[in-house]
Amino acid sequence: MSTKTKIAGIEFDSYIFNASGIKDDTFEELEEIAKSKSSAIMLKSCTIGPRKGNEEPREINLPLGYFQSEGLPNLGYKKYLELIPKLKKYKKPIIASVVGFSLEEYRILIKAFQESEVDLIEINLSCPNIVEEGLPIVYDFEKIKELLDKISNLGEKPIGLKLPAYLCYVLQEKMVNLIEQYDIPFISSINSVGNSLIIDPEKETTVIKPQRGFGGLSGDYIKPIALGNVRRFYELLKDEVSIIGVGGIRTGQDAFEFLLAGADAVQVGTTFEKEGPSCFERINKELEEILQKKGYTSIQEAKGKLEYL
Ligand code: SIN
Repeated sequence: MSTKTKIAGIEFDSYIFNASGIKDDTFEELEEIAKSKSSAIMLKSCTIGPRKGNEEPREINLPLGYFQSEGLPNLGYKKYLELIPKLKKYKKPIIASVVGFSLEEYRILIKAFQESEVDLIEINLSCPNIVEEGLPIVYDFEKIKELLDKISNLGEKPIGLKLPAYLCYVLQEKMVNLIEQYDIPFISSINSVGNSLIIDPEKETTVIKPQRGFGGLSGDYIKPIALGNVRRFYELLKDEVSIIGVGGIRTGQDAFEFLLAGADAVQVGTTFEKEGPSCFERINKELEEILQKKGYTSIQEAKGKLEYL
């Protein structure tokens, strides 16, 4: 039994790999992912210049998840470009993730990765933790259109979009309308749920320092929202666009639910943070067992098979 899958035509050895933003800033961390059973090496979202990120404390583990306002700490895109040849020897797909603070910055970043050895490029439109620097581009459909006009002809590598949690179906239809107008062969859904707040009732304070305590929520808490977003996108896009599910994948059963909803693969973030790199192998094994027990012989057979009551 194998959980081999394809995203935007690129082969992945299993259904499970790391989500951007967790233990993937430095070469050492990326090498640990490369050596694990993660089926790809997803890079930290990078910006034009290096960033230290937001003030500490900026993240906290919660009983059922993770809460953070990292503020995109990263080494700057040039450093990741240097690291890619060193990661190539692990023979796994490498996915770049980019965040620009202007359309021109996005153009520079995407052009640079188009000319690199990465296999896929994810445009992170939905980081919830840089609101002080302006409205995240993902809420401005006109701006996204302008961006897609600007970056569509920069190279042949598949470009995908990292999307937020849409709490309203109409916004997903608008996004699909754009995806269909341009060549967007994959999406990642969802980013951590921004504008969340965790309160310490003992101390009567927020639990992280940046942005007066607001941040992005991940883990079990957001799985139903992620599943809903993936399923809606699958209903709208069918097999025309690969969907990567993200949000609350802790067990093989979680991965199987995303598969039924229509995801072509899943990314694991919170569980990787808490359990370390062994989580990729464990979740994949659990998924294989479920598929075997149910008589499925491939990912493709079970994909999108959710039935309605
Ligand atoms: C961050 O670095 O603030 C998180 C990145 C993201 O959620 O896109």
